Amino acid sequence: MPQPQLLTNARLAMPVAPVDGRGAVVIGGDRILWVGPEDALPADYTSLARQDMEGRLITPALIDCHTHLVHGGNRAREFEMRLEGASYEDIARAGGGIVSTVEATRNASGDDLLAQALPRLDALLAEGATTIEVKSGYGLDRETELRMLRVARALGRARPVRLRTTFLGAHAVPKGQDGDRYIDEICIPTLQAAHDEGLVDAVDGFCEGIAFSPAQIARVFDAARRLDLPVKLHAEQLSHQGGCQLAARYRALSVDHVEYATEADARALAAAGTVAVLLPGAFYFLREAQLPPIAAFRAHGVPMALGTDCNPGSSPLTSLLLAMNMACTLFRMTPDEALRAVTIHAARALGLTDCGILAAGKRADLAVWNVETVAELAYRIGFNPLHARIFGGRAC
Ligand code: NIG
Ligand code: FE
Repeated sequence: MPQPQLLTNARLAMPVAPVDGRGAVVIGGDRILWVGPEDALPADYTSLARQDMEGRLITPALIDCHTHLVHGGNRAREFEMRLEGASYEDIARAGGGIVSTVEATRNASGDDLLAQALPRLDALLAEGATTIEVKSGYGLDRETELRMLRVARALGRARPVRLRTTFLGAHAVPKGQDGDRYIDEICIPTLQAAHDEGLVDAVDGFCEGIAFSPAQIARVFDAARRLDLPVKLHAEQLSHQGGCQLAARYRALSVDHVEYATEADARALAAAGTVAVLLPGAFYFLREAQLPPIAAFRAHGVPMALGTDCNPGSSPLTSLLLAMNMACTLFRMTPDEALRAVTIHAARALGLTDCGILAAGKRADLAVWNVETVAELAYRIGFNPLHARIFGGRAC
């Protein structure tokens, strides 16, 4: 076992106990061995060579808990149509939207999908992310859903990153098909096949007027339960459909978007331990006006996470730092809340307990920033102050 590494003269954000002044981190292998104020460094570690962080801020590495990184093509033309006055829902109902990306994704080989996704993944890593979730959902047939998930796993082998895959077969009703038949005859059997191949870490759906009803999503969740897979849900994004209550009944890891969630939803989520994943990129890009009920989430103690929702239609965003800035400017979250939202709460939205926090025993996934405070991290727009990304104890 190589010597532990000792990082000193750092500012620390989100350690177990608050650290004022100079902090230190000791890393052994892929784990944090110790973290705290430098003057309390245990005697065992004082003889280690010091790596001087020169006062930089160290946070847990960032976690993007909601992406659709793997997809074919782009929807820049729909962006122009929306600028000309069409709504996201108009475009979806007219056969554009998700189903147009489905066509592009079905027509792309695994190699094409991988090549298209890698630059998006690299953009996230360049800002200090080490854990990324990737959803399927642009195949809507067995072959393409499986291809997307295999590509997602391949992304995790192509770069030093922890990749979590989510099966999102219930993303949209394929062109010309009946929603109920699609769920029972394609979506659920495909979930089983993907699970048999070891491709699924969680199961998601889109509960919305333009997608699936709570009753249809419940059938997918029942199938997930039979396979012992955790669930999550795109819920209350464009209207209130009852997705949060459904997700809470299934003890979902997260409900995502949730602009139209209510106080009663917040109460149910808190009781179920479900994380609210806010996606300010989609809110901004669709020029939404309905704000997620942040005050209710705070009041009831619902953990809030943030994701990029990187996808070609509603959020072509590949920056968690910008998501943090947007969460503060658009949703009035505090920078500290925004940091928790892309670290500890994002980990929880993925069912992970070994990362997202600076604490002994947790993974040594850290980000070292050329800033002094968390507020400084959240307030810049389009600037990347990352100094180093440490993944499992290695700078890379
Ligand atoms: O998270 N809301 C549903 N799914 C994606 C949008 C997908 C698309 O428009 O391609 C989302 O916003
Ligand atoms: Fe999404």
